[in-house]
Amino acid sequence: MSLHARSVALSIGTPAELVDQVAGELVQRGEVKVAAAERILKQFRRAEREDSTEQLPVEAAAPGKVVLFGEHAVVYGHAGITASIDIGLKVRLSHDPDGPRFLQPRLTLECPGADCDIDMRRFSRAVDAALEQYGLSHEPLAIEVESDLVPGMGLGSSAAFSTALCRALRRYARGGEDEDTGEGLFAEVQELERIFHGQPSGIDAATVISGGVLWFRKGPPREVLPIRLPRPVAGMVCIVEPGARTIELVRQVAHSRELDQARTDAILEEIGALTAEAGSALGSGDYVRAGMLMLRNHEALERLGVSTPRLDEAVELLLNNGALGAKLTGAGGGGAVVALVEPEQLAGLVRSVQGSFLLAYPFELGSY
Ligand code: MEV
Repeated sequence: MSLHARSVALSIGTPAELVDQVAGELVQRGEVKVAAAERILKQFRRAEREDSTEQLPVEAAAPGKVVLFGEHAVVYGHAGITASIDIGLKVRLSHDPDGPRFLQPRLTLECPGADCDIDMRRFSRAVDAALEQYGLSHEPLAIEVESDLVPGMGLGSSAAFSTALCRALRRYARGGEDEDTGEGLFAEVQELERIFHGQPSGIDAATVISGGVLWFRKGPPREVLPIRLPRPVAGMVCIVEPGARTIELVRQVAHSRELDQARTDAILEEIGALTAEAGSALGSGDYVRAGMLMLRNHEALERLGVSTPRLDEAVELLLNNGALGAKLTGAGGGGAVVALVEPEQLAGLVRSVQGSFLLAYPFELGSY
């Protein structure tokens, strides 16, 4: 096969696994030209997709997340620590001759008393962007979402949605399993996350993609490192009140920084230092210290202006009922709190506080 045909195939961005086939076809047709290569690649892609239509339905899942340390500070280059939680979201692609069509998402958990309406416009825009990203804007597909995550509570529902959607579309577009957990998937998920959050640090996407307990710094270079816990520890997420949008809270912090940069940076640095200490505490199994650091992180977030009286009360209630530590989780302005709990204290804590929250989910750190 001529080297020239291969370089023409490569010049139009033919993926490595198709280069030989495209180049071979160019040689066979006796037309080693860019336009011909583009036509041939399109034909291969179409044939691949026809194969994958036979594989429908395609399903993909992704978990939710909590930020254990460092929200907001991560936006300014400090590290954060997160954990995936064992509730999440599923995306299902099926054949729909009138597609592509995005169906109204099904939320399996009722959130009594809260306005948990999903912002369909943003979700629809993310679906359009994702279809375009994979060259599937005219595919006969129905896209269904079933979620155990309550949206808008800082539990990573948009990152879980973006991740599950990208995983499903990748599998469909590439005709089979596509379990990329690396750079490619991260970049694609971040593209959708921008529709929800403006300029996200990437902490949510990284956590939802990798799962487990994670050390994250946005970089460059980006640090995404699993934290191995030497013994089990439990967590509990409690939904307190409807949250504000992450994008608004991030803007609010940016505005505070414009008004008083020295004060805001000092708080963000303090959060960064608490996170670094928490990384060592968690890694060495010193959960009492990690719990204490969580409380100090919450107090710093309060000074940053992103907590609310109800979040503060929730933290206090959890501490008074046996949690090792607790803090708001996610962007704040409402939403959820997360507590760290010794596994043997978990059942008692759940019993004591359950009635005080809209919803409370216990989980094991690092179990996903
Ligand atoms: C949201 O989970 C975490 C924030 O720091 C925003 C971000 O990092 O993109 C508030």
